[in-house]
Amino acid sequence: MSQAQRILVTGGYGQVGVDLVDYLMGRVPLGGRADFAPDQRPLDSEEFEVIGLSHHDLDVSSPEQVEAALAHTRPDVVVHLAAYTAVDRAETEPDLARAVNTTGTGLLSDAAARHGAHLIAVSTDYVFDGVKGAAYVEEDATNPQSVYGLTKRDGELLCRSADTIVRTSWVMGVRGKNVAHIIADRATSGQSVRFVSDQTGTVTSSADLARALVALIRARPGGVWHVANTGTTTWFEIARFIGEILGRGEDFATPITTSELSPAPLATRPPRSDLDTSKFARAFSPLPEWRDAVARLVRDREHLVR
Ligand SMILES: NC(=O)c1ccc[n+]([C@@H]2O[C@H](COP(=O)([O-])OP(=O)(O)OC[C@H]3O[C@@H](n4cnc5c(N)ncnc54)[C@H](OP(=O)(O)O)[C@@H]3O)[C@@H](O)[C@H]2O)c1
Repeated sequence: MSQAQRILVTGGYGQVGVDLVDYLMGRVPLGGRADFAPDQRPLDSEEFEVIGLSHHDLDVSSPEQVEAALAHTRPDVVVHLAAYTAVDRAETEPDLARAVNTTGTGLLSDAAARHGAHLIAVSTDYVFDGVKGAAYVEEDATNPQSVYGLTKRDGELLCRSADTIVRTSWVMGVRGKNVAHIIADRATSGQSVRFVSDQTGTVTSSADLARALVALIRARPGGVWHVANTGTTTWFEIARFIGEILGRGEDFATPITTSELSPAPLATRPPRSDLDTSKFARAFSPLPEWRDAVARLVRDREHLVR
């Protein structure tokens, strides 16, 4: 019998982390689709030995802790999901955001190289300024407009060419804190919502992203990969779609512009940062369409104990 590959997951208790750990243990997480296998290979509960670390277990901004984690666990692959993800708060805590998103990613790339492990580091569409006017491909120039985007981009720059960088966007998981839950809660409690219709992007189910990460863990390709559900949308369209699923009428969601947001968000978001995922689709297969992903989230959130 072949030996299990040992996978170390930073941010293992975050939104994407919990879904990835499920898949690596051979289970389909809430919000996931059992028939989605981008590498056409079934899950195997014996294939991986998983070490999912929380922030408490490992602070990725500490050189000593990162070195100790790699030395003790001796992983084959490190999936680096830990991040400072509070996009607006990062504007007022730039040093902390940089310590986690930039320094932490560099430390993991260095430690992975020292210990002979492959690094998969997850990044964001916010590395782009959003003014290209078309979907972003992996080779497009970055030009982040927020502290979060800048610190994530600088983390990418500290990775080695052998590392795999996965850029994803608008991530939502059943067990994560995300806007889809806020919309669904308002829809079921009879309230209405206002969402911007002038920011375009790509939704990513954290479960589908996690399944794509399993394919990348097996392939260890290196380089930059864009991974998101198929199709572009706006936050207003997402809100209207969730309202429809939950039986709300046209009056549930009202479109507004970014300039109408009150109070104005601290961080600037790209007006159009949808990711072109054709590289991943060619090498593996496309992720399901975004409505399929959002519908699964709304369906499976009923199973959450709250
Ligand atoms: N969410 C999105 O819409 C989105 C979009 C594009 C890209 N991404 C990227 O996708 C990845 C996963 O995001 P996610 O949605 O799973 O985020 P998440 O739910 O916020 O999870 C991030 C995890 O990182 C942990 N963390 C924070 N600081 C840390 C530190 N210094 N050391 C170790 N762990 C630390 C957090 O733990 P505590 O909460 O205990 O601090 C949290 O569990 C991140 O790289 C993120 O930048 C996310």
